[in-house]
Amino acid sequence: MPILLLLDGDGIGPEVNAQVRRLIGWAAGHGLTFESQHARIGGAAIDAEGAPVSDATVALAAKADAILFGAVGGPKWEKLPRAQRPEQGLLRLRRELGLFANLRPARVWPGLEDVSPLRPERAGDTDLIFVRELTGGVYFGEPRGQSGTAPERRALDTQAYSEAEIARVAHAGFRLARGRRRHLTSVEKANVMETGQLWRAVVTEVAASYPDVTLAHMFADNCAFQLVRAPTQFDVILTDNLFGDLLSDLAGGVAGSLGLLPSAALGEGPEGRTPGLYEPVHGSAPDIAGTGRANPVAAILSFAMALRHSLGAPALADALEAATGRALAAGARARPLGGRGMGQPHRQCHPIWWPSPSY
Ligand code: IPM
Ligand code: MN
Repeated sequence: MPILLLLDGDGIGPEVNAQVRRLIGWAAGHGLTFESQHARIGGAAIDAEGAPVSDATVALAAKADAILFGAVGGPKWEKLPRAQRPEQGLLRLRRELGLFANLRPARVWPGLEDVSPLRPERAGDTDLIFVRELTGGVYFGEPRGQSGTAPERRALDTQAYSEAEIARVAHAGFRLARGRRRHLTSVEKANVMETGQLWRAVVTEVAASYPDVTLAHMFADNCAFQLVRAPTQFDVILTDNLFGDLLSDLAGGVAGSLGLLPSAALGEGPEGRTPGLYEPVHGSAPDIAGTGRANPVAAILSFAMALRHSLGAPALADALEAATGRALAAGARARPLGGRGMGQPHRQCHPIWWPSPSY
């Protein structure tokens, strides 16, 4: 029986994962039963266990088939030094489980064109997916640190990529493009960065194995501009950890709400086994936590991605995505709310009602 590990985390994490628990029951009704486990992560784990993720939880995650993550962080833990912050729980899981390929689809759903800040004729058919490198780059590069005392303080981060790291995520991107519109845009700053130059060279080499996929290269700043100007030009966007973080939030802006964007973090796993970590792209939105206003769509679509990529149930994934589309088209959302998530403006959609997905 496949094992699911629910990591609710902080803020609206428990609320959006409550909808995932309903979906676990729905899947059981269609003959797919799981062993569900749960554990703490983020601020909740700091408070109860003294670390943003415990060794025991990492061990549990390594044995799971799919990890369903809610959100981490909140004002209570904002002053902690970086190494002890709630985000470290998530970063440790990504890194230790080898989840190097982060799939982040973004689309403008029929019926939600008015939620996008872009004109419908510009954003209407947007249907793109990021393949963001997730275990390398400036997130993990060494050396890093801060030194000195005012007024001579210094801080250092390192952006580093090996050829192997670039090649494996590029293969993931090209394989994905084959199942879609066969167009891949590789995004870096080869005009400024050494890692960008290596990225472009390695992606070009990998592309030779996928002659049926069209490859375009784009600088990251131009990609930000193009996402706003003409988002429908994109199919698969392959990029590094930091650019993928920034640009996927931008794509959330195009879709109209970060509350709509799911994600999957995939690896090869030991002995070919692939635990997948599924998470909404949005944050913990502590200001609306507990008010029943969190948008669960990103968590619901993340569960659909788990069904497809880790649980061998693509038909159920299709059904869940179709049900989500029908519910959204039928008005299962209300006014976009101006909330604040993790200190940033966080635009949420308020679901008035949420029907059970029908199969
Ligand atoms: C994301 C988040 C994380 C990241 C944080 C919470 C560490 O912003 O998944 O996009 O920066 O990768
Ligand atoms: Mn982010």
